[in-house]
Order: sequence, then C-alpha cells, then structure tokens
Amino acid sequence: MKHALSKSASKQSSVVMSDETYNQFRTFIYEQTGISFQNNQKYLLESRLLPRLKEHKLASYEDYYHYLRFDTYRDKELSALFELITTNETYFYRDIPQLENFMKTIVPAMMEANKATKQIRIWSAACSTGDEPYTLAIMLLEHLPLAGWTIEILATDINDAVLTQARAGVYDAHTLRHVPITLKRKYFVEQKGHFTLTAAVKGRVKFMNLNLYDRPRLKLVRGIDTVFCRNCLIYFDDKAKWQIVTDLQATLKPNGYLVIGFSESLTNMGNLFRTMQTGRSVVYQKV
Ligand SMILES: C[S@@+](CC[C@H](N)C(=O)[O-])C[C@H]1O[C@@H](n2cnc3c(N)ncnc32)[C@H](O)[C@@H]1O
Repeated sequence: MKHALSKSASKQSSVVMSDETYNQFRTFIYEQTGISFQNNQKYLLESRLLPRLKEHKLASYEDYYHYLRFDTYRDKELSALFELITTNETYFYRDIPQLENFMKTIVPAMMEANKATKQIRIWSAACSTGDEPYTLAIMLLEHLPLAGWTIEILATDINDAVLTQARAGVYDAHTLRHVPITLKRKYFVEQKGHFTLTAAVKGRVKFMNLNLYDRPRLKLVRGIDTVFCRNCLIYFDDKAKWQIVTDLQATLKPNGYLVIGFSESLTNMGNLFRTMQTGRSVVYQKV
C-alpha cells in the first residue's frame, strides 16, 4: 500500500488535500473517535497529517487515507493519527475552584456512601499527560479524613504519546505553576529544571489507553464513584457527546458523579443526571 513520494510532491506546498479527501478523513476520524472536524479546518488537518505522508513516503493525502483504512499496519498508524488530531493542553491544579468544590462536596458524599468498604474509585477519562489525575491523587493524599482508605485512580486517554509521558511523571515548571509551593516540595523532586513525581503519587494512578467513543470497551469499566471528563467534550458533536456521556453515566455507581470542564455544559441529560450547583460550577449526579 505504499506509494513513492514523487519529486514534485515532496515539496510541502505541492501536496494538497482535496475537499473530497478532507470529507473522507472527517468521516473516518468521526467514526473512530467521535471528534468532529469543522468545514473550515481542512488546513489544520492537512498540516497535522503531512508528517505521516513523509514518514511513509506517500505521494498524496488520498494515499494516506487508503493506508489508514487498509494497510496491514493500520492499527499502529491509527495510534499515530490519534496523537496528531487530539489537543492535549492540560496542567496541574486546573480550575482550582472546581477542584475545591470536589473536595468540599463530592468527597464527603463519596465517603458517606462508601463508609462500609472504605474504598473510592475515581476515573480521569481524558487524562492527557496525567496532570489531572495526579492533581487528584495529591489532593486526596493531603485529605486527612481519607487516611486508611483505599483510593483507586484510573486515568485513560486515546493518545499513546501523552500516556507515555504521564507514566514517566516528569514535568516542567510551567505545568506546575498552580501547585502550592509546599506540595511541590513534598511531591516532586527537582533536577535541572525538571520535576519528577514521587512514587507516593505515581503509585496511586493507573494509566490505560481507552477511546471514549469505543462503546464495547467502555462497557468494561464499572463501579466508578466519580468520573472526571474535563475539557474533552468540546471536541465532539452533539450526537457523539450524547453517546459518550450516556456511556460514562453507565460506568458510575448509583448516585455517582460526573465532573465536566468549567466551560462545558450538558443539555437534555435530565433523565441521566440531576444537576448540583456547587459554587460557580455544576456537578452531575447519576439519577
Ligand atoms: C484538552 S485535554 C484535557 C485534559 C484534562 N482532562 C484537563 O482538563 O486538563 C483533552 C484530552 O482528551 C483526549 N481525547 C480526545 N478524544 C478522545 C477520545 N475519543 N477518547 C479518549 N480521549 C480522548 C485527548 O487525547 C486529550 O488528551
């Protein structure tokens, strides 16, 4: 399925994605991930995918499309595609008021619900480089009433590259800009401008690749007390968002919680969740 990159095509500017091919890619990406590319995003997709054409010495985007659909190594290539089309912006202690509300409202409710087992299961469902689940791990470690409890934090993403970074647990100062200084000293080891998480935090989070648009695989996740799916739903259209939120709801225990991004919203989900206004953010509780 490989096609030699012709001399003229090797110049970046000469490889152009036709509208028809753009639509094929959009449909393909949507079917695979639920991520919606808009009418005006062709150039964005073109520039993101160009390195793959070069890597495989393909002459055109059409060839790359066929490679993705039919090549023997398509599964490996899909992983490369997901790395290129996802937006992975994240940082530690993102949206502090929302996290404080989680500690003040949801954590006591989960402790009450689970007082017999003293176990809590939290899922960071679009965890990127791990900043969100590790932030939760630190906040929960610091919460004295949870001493003696078993806290499981599952962290998943569709992008293998960010998961590799997450497992390494090494960050730069900018990513940690909102971490209180005492906690930075307590939970990170600094070396030449890089900050490595201590084993106490790293050991609390289990990372896995999981595509939120993969319904059969989501059925394998059950018994979650709170799922965080922040700053990810914005990449889906209403149909994909409805499917994903429905599937996330099914992973929760009765009365479990869904936390979405501060600037995100859910409409017409009344039969799945009751909404709770906590401070300036909304939390969704499974009906
Ligand atoms: C902007 S980051 C948000 C990270 C973190 N939740 C936060 O709020 O800081 C969005 C993440 O969603 C992931 N993502 C996008 N589509 C996904 C899908 N279908 N399944 C799983 N993860 C997905 C991306 O790879 C990316 O890492």
